Amino acid sequence: MDEVILEDIKQKALEEHIPIIMDETLEVIGNILKDNKPKRILEIGTAVGYSAICFSKYLSKDGVIDTIERDENRIKQANDNISKLGLENQIYIHSGDAVEILPTLNEKYDVIFIDAAKGKYPFFLKESERLLKPHGIIFADNILYKGYVMSDYNKHKQRTAVRNLREYIKEVTEDPNFDTEILEVGDGLAISKRR
Ligand SMILES: C[S@@+](CC[C@H](N)C(=O)[O-])C[C@H]1O[C@@H](n2cnc3c(N)ncnc32)[C@H](O)[C@@H]1O
Repeated sequence: MDEVILEDIKQKALEEHIPIIMDETLEVIGNILKDNKPKRILEIGTAVGYSAICFSKYLSKDGVIDTIERDENRIKQANDNISKLGLENQIYIHSGDAVEILPTLNEKYDVIFIDAAKGKYPFFLKESERLLKPHGIIFADNILYKGYVMSDYNKHKQRTAVRNLREYIKEVTEDPNFDTEILEVGDGLAISKRR
């Protein structure tokens, strides 16, 4: 992997205020992926491809990443970034709304990274459970959403997002098929390992 190109992609995204994975979140996920060497990763929320490109370092031989994005401009940038690094055979972008695309997928994944519309997290969880292999891992980024999720409902505007993030946490932590940890890294990361 050409680290100079990767750093350029990251800096350009930050300059353009495109929300990309935070360094400390990436480090936590990277350490887990390093040990797991996944064959198939599903990402919900590509943006410009930064996290998918970072995750591709940890794929096993012939491993692939399917990633979903609905913003056409970001899809174009992501495709350019993927080409610059020669990762066209490892990262596939599915263009469109994840709410429509997820139900059409049938392959099973070792790892699923949820990083898109917060109001849809409970739906993304349901689909991820369907698409996850036994012993697979679901990561959900921004799960604590600037601390709102653990604070008083009425003190912020993003009530729907917060309600749905709380619902995600409740469902996944109460699910006997998963061991879940909620980490305060970055904007909050839920790590759920299927038993
Ligand atoms: C936080 S960014 C993803 C960042 C990326 N994972 C990274 O770390 O480099 C979230 C992206 O999800 C996309 N998104 C949000 N809701 C979506 C949906 N329902 N379907 C597809 N894409 C969605 C947004 O357009 C945005 O680009």
